[in-house]
Amino acid sequence: MTSSEQPRVQWLGRWGFILAATGSAVGLGNIWKFPYMTGEYGGGAFVLVYLACILAVGVPVMMCEIAFGRRGRGSPIDAFRRMAKESGRSPLWSILGWMSMLSGFMILSFYVIVAGWSFAYLWKVVSGGLTGANVGDMVAIFEANNANPWNLGGWSTMVTLVTMVIVGMGVQKGIERSVGWMMPGLVVMLVILIVYNVFSGGFGEAVSFLFSFNAGSLSSAGMLAALGHAFFTLSLAAGAILTYGSYLPRSASIGRTTLSVALADTAVALMAGLAIFPVIFSNGMDPGEGPGLIFMSLPLAFQAMPLGTLFGVLFFVMLSMAALTSSISMVEATVSWLCDSKGFSRRWAAWSSGIVLWFISTLAMLSFSADWAVLGKTLFDWLDYLTSRLLMPLGGLGTVVLAGFFIRNEVMRDELALPPLIYALWLIMVRYVSPLGILIVFVDALGLYSI
Ligand code: PHE
Ligand code: NA
Repeated sequence: MTSSEQPRVQWLGRWGFILAATGSAVGLGNIWKFPYMTGEYGGGAFVLVYLACILAVGVPVMMCEIAFGRRGRGSPIDAFRRMAKESGRSPLWSILGWMSMLSGFMILSFYVIVAGWSFAYLWKVVSGGLTGANVGDMVAIFEANNANPWNLGGWSTMVTLVTMVIVGMGVQKGIERSVGWMMPGLVVMLVILIVYNVFSGGFGEAVSFLFSFNAGSLSSAGMLAALGHAFFTLSLAAGAILTYGSYLPRSASIGRTTLSVALADTAVALMAGLAIFPVIFSNGMDPGEGPGLIFMSLPLAFQAMPLGTLFGVLFFVMLSMAALTSSISMVEATVSWLCDSKGFSRRWAAWSSGIVLWFISTLAMLSFSADWAVLGKTLFDWLDYLTSRLLMPLGGLGTVVLAGFFIRNEVMRDELALPPLIYALWLIMVRYVSPLGILIVFVDALGLYSI
């Protein structure tokens, strides 16, 4: 029996896919990256373009990915090849699978470092390392944390290990079981933080910063950043959603599932913004601070809160878990490919991916810690930049073009099982709206690529 004839593992529970996909989507992208990018690109206009990209590009691409995964029943490489073959198209379409696997790997290489910050800060809160620190101290603490490669590398190595242990345990026992209790806790924590902020100043300013869409026009760099972030935050074109989709039973509705994942992800990002910016504004901090934004601002809020240490601990536990439920999804494509096509055992697939990953992330960590820059960016920055500004939008473009123009219409119609009117709308989106949207942003940003 070849691997394609074997029945594939499926999610155990009715909520298995939704939880796992939401776990993948909701992560550092929402709580760490979204606020600092919004701060860097000036607020409302960035948020508006980001929301438009989620609707016009993210949702249609996610539907394609889940459909391809479920019908192609395999890792992205196998799934793209099988889908193309079924419609009599070239096996070269599997290049989209290779690209997405590469993206997942590149993202994970810097993601484990940021997840390591979260664990490091958890330790700082527990051990009292942040007690009594003022705004200036917080900046210094963040910088000191990064200047020490042993500290930085120790935490990111630990994240890599935990990720590989969970993935090695399998889809049901590892992934599905861990996301089931990590996700609900995260939402509760965010709600508590927002409620606190409503009463402690800066909230109105934060709301108008996030939602005053007339905040001036967005630069080309900002548009590209918003598009890239829509892919990143929904875990698209990185192998994650497609591979999770390959464990989805036939009975699930792809449209409804996609909408719930996208909605949950967007809600958590906006909630994170509402939890973070009040602290920034009421303490006179700079919203354009960059990647350290939440690590410098939130601990200040915790200090001022009654039971602040307790909330600080809870928050960083949740942030770390949100990071883990995402990091496991980034490596799942590679692991499933090694198992299906290369005959690896699941455990060995996880460990060997982990070792390769460890080397790349250690290089990224060192480049970040020592600030070694090539063409103005460290390896850490390049991994982030190349994936979200280039590989993912291109992969997404390929995916919608394949689904809209090259896969036989009956196949997609059968797989998506949408009411006729909604299906027609989806087809217009994947054929015209999403590809044109991506192209326009790309063309607009062309100047950015000419270094
Ligand atoms: N969506 C995740 C986040 O927002 C990141 C991610 C990207 C996960 C790509 C999987 C694949 O943090
Ligand atoms: Na996200």
